[in-house]
Amino acid sequence: MTLIDGKAISEQIKQEIAAEVAAIVAAGGKRPHLAAILVGHDGGSETYVANKVKACQVCGFTSTLIRYEADVTEEELLAGVRRLNDDADVDGFIVQLPLPRHISEQKVIETIDYRKDVDGFHPINVGRMVIGLPCYVSATPNGILELLKRYNIATSGKKCVVLGRSNIVGKPMATLMMQKACPGDATVTVCHSRSADLVGECRKADILIAAMGQPNFVKADMVKEGAVVIDVGTTRVPDASRKSGFKLTGDVLFDEVAPRCSFITPVPGGVGPMTIVSLMKNTLLAGKKAIYP
Ligand code: GUN
Repeated sequence: MTLIDGKAISEQIKQEIAAEVAAIVAAGGKRPHLAAILVGHDGGSETYVANKVKACQVCGFTSTLIRYEADVTEEELLAGVRRLNDDADVDGFIVQLPLPRHISEQKVIETIDYRKDVDGFHPINVGRMVIGLPCYVSATPNGILELLKRYNIATSGKKCVVLGRSNIVGKPMATLMMQKACPGDATVTVCHSRSADLVGECRKADILIAAMGQPNFVKADMVKEGAVVIDVGTTRVPDASRKSGFKLTGDVLFDEVAPRCSFITPVPGGVGPMTIVSLMKNTLLAGKKAIYP
């Protein structure tokens, strides 16, 4: 069994990005600039955004954090999005999700200029991804592809099962794994809460990608001997023995499943750091105007 070290790979990629940024700036080019909008004070979102800002520093990007209180009106938030659309210095920006219930996430996503949508959530980027055109690909699926690539994990002709059908992970992941590409060319099944034989499907998977947000859902009897298991889960499970008061827990019961795998990602230190680094890669593309000149 090989443990996929997302933390180490992500550090390596950040160094590659930093070297490229240094070369751009030395040649008189513009330093890429990522802005992030954070609404409210949700613990998970605070941590994710802080980590994104930290990663920007390592990569040599300019970063701007814009905060709103949880009671911000939808119109105020949309006005903030439009200001970033119009700010020529900002190459790309994100609005950290989830948003308070009184704000339509879809309306916010569709207000972002797709040319600055480094999260890849705008319907234009999603649509372009589906038909294989250059676009911003959402960070978590892209990070997983990068891990498969860097560990030389074969995907062509393999049976891939994706657990979960969210717009930001499950759906784009399934789309990318079936794409005529490398990694890709897999035969993909998507399972969700209404799947009739979820366990049976999982047992047939050469590559199992768990992204339904249910801690420890995937047990050993759901995994074929020699399978590749990618764990996207990051649920904060209460744990009084820790200073933080919680334990970041994946969707895979790691201790039981790992011995059956050829490759597996840990939580933390697997997919999580790759998600942030994928956002950094998209920001570099935005800074270079590489996708939408
Ligand atoms: N919330 C959970 N994951 C993400 C992400 O990749 N981007 C944004 N903006 N919000 C998230």
